[in-house]
Amino acid sequence: MNTLTKQNRNPLSDWSVESWQRKTIRQQATYPDQAALAQAVDRLSTVPPLVTSWEVKRLKHYLAEVQRGERFLIQGGDCAESFADCSSPIISNRLKVLIQMSLVLIHGCRTPVVRVGRFAGQYAKPRSADTETRDGVTLPSFRGEIVNDNDFTEAARVPDPQRMLTAYHHASMTMNFVRALVDGGFADIRHPEYWDLAWVKHSPNANKFHELVEKISESINFAEILAGRAINNLSNVEFFCSHEALHLHYEQALTRQVPRQDGHFNLSTHLPWIGLRTNQMDSAHIELLRGVQNPVGVKIGKETESDHLVDLCRTLNPHDEDGKLVLIHRFGAENIETHLPRLIEVAQKANLKVIWCSDPMHGNTESTSNGYKTRRFENIRKEVEMSIKTHKVNGSHLGGVHLELTGENVTECLGGARALQEADLSKAYTTQVDPRLNYEQALELAFAIKDFYRS
Ligand code: PEP
Ligand code: CO
Repeated sequence: MNTLTKQNRNPLSDWSVESWQRKTIRQQATYPDQAALAQAVDRLSTVPPLVTSWEVKRLKHYLAEVQRGERFLIQGGDCAESFADCSSPIISNRLKVLIQMSLVLIHGCRTPVVRVGRFAGQYAKPRSADTETRDGVTLPSFRGEIVNDNDFTEAARVPDPQRMLTAYHHASMTMNFVRALVDGGFADIRHPEYWDLAWVKHSPNANKFHELVEKISESINFAEILAGRAINNLSNVEFFCSHEALHLHYEQALTRQVPRQDGHFNLSTHLPWIGLRTNQMDSAHIELLRGVQNPVGVKIGKETESDHLVDLCRTLNPHDEDGKLVLIHRFGAENIETHLPRLIEVAQKANLKVIWCSDPMHGNTESTSNGYKTRRFENIRKEVEMSIKTHKVNGSHLGGVHLELTGENVTECLGGARALQEADLSKAYTTQVDPRLNYEQALELAFAIKDFYRS
């Protein structure tokens, strides 16, 4: 083949929804019953999609704005969703936190925001080991509720393909409720009381937030008096969803062609991402996501080599589109200064079109002496601050943040306004995998981000 023909070659001509099966497959469950697996995938291939191609394209348009520095991305939610948490208060509290955080940023940074939940599909988890041993008993690891159950019994840990359908049903219930809330005026700025969390009484951050809402309401009233009419569209808040596209059978079954649209869309979510443990160039996960029209995310960290970054970007954004690729960097507060400038330089030299997003959670995980997996609020805050500064100093910009958070009053991360200590962790430690910011810590981080941008 001569060079010209090579260059004109469609990079996706050798891609199909099944081509990932010829690549190196990591972090997948071993299903004992392959016929049951095939049956579940067949059924999942016929169910209605969870999102539409129009929504996916709208998100890509917003992400192109993020790439140009005209909009900020807030991505957040549970580390691992659970089926039991698919309930009205938990879903609405999570939305409330994301709406409150976005209002702080919109007002503080004078920038529109795009909100992407880590929900409606965040049911699969990568694990560092295939098995777990407790008191001399070894069982398969818990891989998220889309695969098996967290209980430490032999029966609970057997991968069950029917769980893919259960996950789909819970994702669809979640999306249905989110859409109904948003369409029903839940996020209307004229009714900020809708977003108050019932259990928050006299929190300093909540009071700070109420003062901000009061200021905004006064401005709206003033603008309406000037205009002599009501300002419409104030209730128009959009939410998109995202999850780690880890379970490849699930993702394949929901990757479809759509009438009158070119290419394939992953219709299980708006923004699928690839985790750090599956981002190798020979990876089945890269193969599946390189062929979809969705914007996609990929986690990178201190171990990401310069050449790897370039290969990832060229492969996952084969048509060099704007708003297509989100690089979610997670270095840890102590490593970011060493590695981020290097990767920014690589992206600039290779002229890569990327959105930079900071995940200040996954590089800052540690274990306490009493056995809890936790994160220090100070390290999380520091990593976001360093991300904003390092991008600025290097002629780039941070487009957004990717957080693990909840609207519940949990005690999983140390520090923050209430200075949670190690001894407090046992009070309300409910996460299935990683420690999340609670409502107060999340709001405190939003105020901190606003201050970093202002300075
Ligand atoms: C996650 O986002 O929950 C996760 C596992 O992250 P990472 O791939 O960055 O470790
Ligand atoms: Co996590």
